[in-house]
Amino acid sequence: MDMNSYLEANKQRFLDELFDLLRIPSISADTRFAGDVRKAAEFVKSKLLEAGCDMAMVEETPGHPIVYGEKIIDPALPTILVYGHYDVQPSVPDNLWTTPPFEPQVRDGKIYARGACDDKGQMYMHVKAFEMMQQTGNLSCNTKFMIEGEEEVGSASLSAYCRANKERLTADVILVSDTSMIANDIPSIDVGLRGLAYLEVKVTGPNRDLHSGVYGGAVPNPINVLCSMIASLHDENRHITIPGFYDDVLELSAEDRAALNMAPFDVEAYKRDLEIGDVYGEKGYTSLERTGTRPTLDVNGIWGGYTGEGSKTVLPSVAQAKISMRLVPNQSSEKIAEIFERHFKSIAPSSVKVEVHPHHGGEPVLTPTDSVPYKAAAAAIRKTYGKDPIPTRGGGSIPIIALFEKELGIKTMLMGFGLDSDDIHSPDEHYGLFNYYKGIETIPWFFHYFAEMNKA
Ligand code: BES
Ligand code: MN
Ligand code: MN
Repeated sequence: MDMNSYLEANKQRFLDELFDLLRIPSISADTRFAGDVRKAAEFVKSKLLEAGCDMAMVEETPGHPIVYGEKIIDPALPTILVYGHYDVQPSVPDNLWTTPPFEPQVRDGKIYARGACDDKGQMYMHVKAFEMMQQTGNLSCNTKFMIEGEEEVGSASLSAYCRANKERLTADVILVSDTSMIANDIPSIDVGLRGLAYLEVKVTGPNRDLHSGVYGGAVPNPINVLCSMIASLHDENRHITIPGFYDDVLELSAEDRAALNMAPFDVEAYKRDLEIGDVYGEKGYTSLERTGTRPTLDVNGIWGGYTGEGSKTVLPSVAQAKISMRLVPNQSSEKIAEIFERHFKSIAPSSVKVEVHPHHGGEPVLTPTDSVPYKAAAAAIRKTYGKDPIPTRGGGSIPIIALFEKELGIKTMLMGFGLDSDDIHSPDEHYGLFNYYKGIETIPWFFHYFAEMNKA
C-alpha cells in the first residue's frame, strides 16, 4: 500500500488515538496531576512500540519521566531524532472553555482540547508518520524518539538526561514539530525562537496588613510601589530601561529586516481577531519584528491585597509579580536575569524590602536556511503544500533546543504545523484536522529527502 492510501485508510484511528492521549490531563506544572503525567508517558511508550519501534521505555528523572524509543534499520543510514513533549499547560480558567479541556471534540474541522496543538497533536503526528513509513516499507532513516514531560515547566531534567545518554542519542538531526506556520495556504518554517528569562518578585511593606484609612498615606503600599517599579521598566517608546539590557542584541541588517517583513501579515485582521484598538510595542519596529526579533519584558501575573468579593479596605503587606523577558540571539538568559535583579533592587524605595527569585530560563535559537535539514524540510513542504515555505521567526521559546546543540552537538530542525491562532496555552486551544493530517503526510517526505540529500 502506498502512504497516501495508508493515511486515508487509517485517518479515523489516528484521530481516535490522539483523542485518547488528549483525555489524559498531563499538566506538568501541577503536582496533583503527576500520576496523569506518568500515564501519558506510558501511553506514548506503548504507541511507539505498536508503531514499530524495536524498543521504547519510560525513563525516570528527578521530575517527570522521559519517553525514549528507537528503530535502527541500518547503521549506515542517517538517523533522525524526533523531540516533542507530552506535557501540557494548566487548563485554568476552565469555565472559559466551550467544552471541557480534557474531553476532546471536533468542531468546524478543528480538534479542541488542551494540548491539541501544543504539543500532543504535533508530537503524535510523528508517531503516526513513523507507523505509516514502517508499515508501507518507506522508512528511509533510523529513527529515535525523545518525548519529554517537562517542556512546559522548563525542561529541568532533560539536559542532564542528554548529558548522561550522549551515545544513545547520536543523530544527524533533531526534528521538532512544536512551532507554527503563517497560514494553511502560506506554509512557513520558524528559523528562530526567542530565549527566556523568568523571575518572580516580591515587595514587602509593613509587616502585616493594615487598615487603609488608619495607616493609608503614611506607610508604603507595596502594590502601589510594585506598580510604579514595573511601570518604570519601559520608557515612552516602550524600550526597556534596564541598563545594559540591549548590549548583546544583534541588530538585523536592512536586508534581513526587509526579508522578514515580506512575510504576509494583515495587521487589521490581527487587531480584529484580538479585539484590540491598536497594536502596541517598541517604537520603530513592525509587529513581525516585535515578536520575532526584539526582546520584551512582560508581567505574567500580579497579585496581593484583597481580590475577593465586594470591598475590603486594606493596605496590604505584600505584593508579588511574575515577570518574563523574551530574549533574542546573542542575549544570555543568565546575564539578563542578573541585570534585572540588580536593577529591580536598585529602583526600590528604601521604605520596602524587595526579593527577586529566578525561575527557569533558556537561550534563543537561530537556525540556518542553507543547511541540509532546512532544504529537506523545504522540499517536503513543497511536495505536500505545493508551495515553498517562507522562513519566519517565532516569538515563543523552546529552551531545550539551544541545549541540544550544546550538550549533544546536534542541530535542530523546527518543522511545525500549528497556527498562531490555535490558542495554545489559552482556553479553547485547538488544532486543525487539516494540520494534523498534513503533518502526518509531510513528515515522511522529510525523512525521504533527508536520506536522499545525505547520500549526495
Ligand atoms: N511550543 C511552545 C513554543 C512555541 C510556540 C514556539 C509557538 C513557537 C511558536 C512551547 O511549548 C512553549 O510554550 N514554550 C514556553 C517556554 C517554556 C519554558 C514554558 C513559552 O514559549 O512560553
Ligand atoms: Mn510546545
Ligand atoms: Mn507550550
